[in-house]
Amino acid sequence: MLSDRATSFEFVRTLVRKRSGIVLGAEKDYLIQARLTTLSRKEGFDSITELLDQTKALLDQLDEDGHHGLGEKVVDALTTNETSFFRDQHPFECLRNHVLPDLLPRRAAERSLKIWSAACSTGQEPYSVAMVLQEHFPELRDWPVQLIASDLSTKCLERARQGRYSQMEVSRGLPAPRLAKFFSRRGLDWVVHDELRRMIDFRQINLQDQDLDLALPQLDVVFLRNVLIYFDKETSQQILGRIRRVLRPDGYLFLGGAETTLFLDDAFERVPLNQASCYRLKHHSPTTPTRSIHDALS
Ligand SMILES: C[S@@+](CC[C@H](N)C(=O)[O-])C[C@H]1O[C@@H](n2cnc3c(N)ncnc32)[C@H](O)[C@@H]1O
Repeated sequence: MLSDRATSFEFVRTLVRKRSGIVLGAEKDYLIQARLTTLSRKEGFDSITELLDQTKALLDQLDEDGHHGLGEKVVDALTTNETSFFRDQHPFECLRNHVLPDLLPRRAAERSLKIWSAACSTGQEPYSVAMVLQEHFPELRDWPVQLIASDLSTKCLERARQGRYSQMEVSRGLPAPRLAKFFSRRGLDWVVHDELRRMIDFRQINLQDQDLDLALPQLDVVFLRNVLIYFDKETSQQILGRIRRVLRPDGYLFLGGAETTLFLDDAFERVPLNQASCYRLKHHSPTTPTRSIHDALS
């Protein structure tokens, strides 16, 4: 039994840290309180203490790495899933104007392009990437492009796979012509067209997984945006190390606007391209100087 609030919250902090890497300092007690109150009600418990006692009892019956639905729901409730279509805009402009025009001529012979949205939340990020590909790179329709989108959160992934968004969600980042082009109205919501949804391979991947690279191909572009901010330095370093193993030597890594590899992993260097937080591995192979993507594909 968890005797008091302090012990209960410490149990939650340890569980969330172990399962996700997310650090919940004491300043996040309000978040634990609010999110777990909602979860307790939903799961039919009278209080957070009752919910956590049951979670702990179930986890105690399992071995160290055992998973139980209730533990997963507690962790899931404490992830922050804020996102929007074309969030911050710059990374998507950079993808369109610099990254793909640089990469595609070098991938023309093998006709392969692999992109990973590594903490995709409810899917707005990978759908934004898919829209960029559809709108600006029609040549890629004949390539077996792989667009993988993953998250730790089961509830986020369910929503991402459905591709169903409220009016409020689509109004954040989607101009009317794009909405009309890629979505259909269903009741009060908007549903992404199958053509776009089929481009994305949604998977559950925990960035904490040491064998992450075994689950993924070698990637050309990785979006790891607005997730490192939830981890401590050591966890962020480990995750960047895993990203290094899956990123092709001349690939690109996008971080969130407030994130950097500086002081975390000096194998990366920032690419001085607009305001996007875009990185490459140092000593990457030189960019193809003169051929345009259209030359290379024609
Ligand atoms: C704030 S959202 C970022 C969404 C999107 N990348 C963006 O920038 O709009 C952070 C996401 O990271 C996910 N996350 C947190 N810890 C994770 C982990 N260990 N492995 C995979 N995803 C994780 C959360 O579930 C959440 O959906």
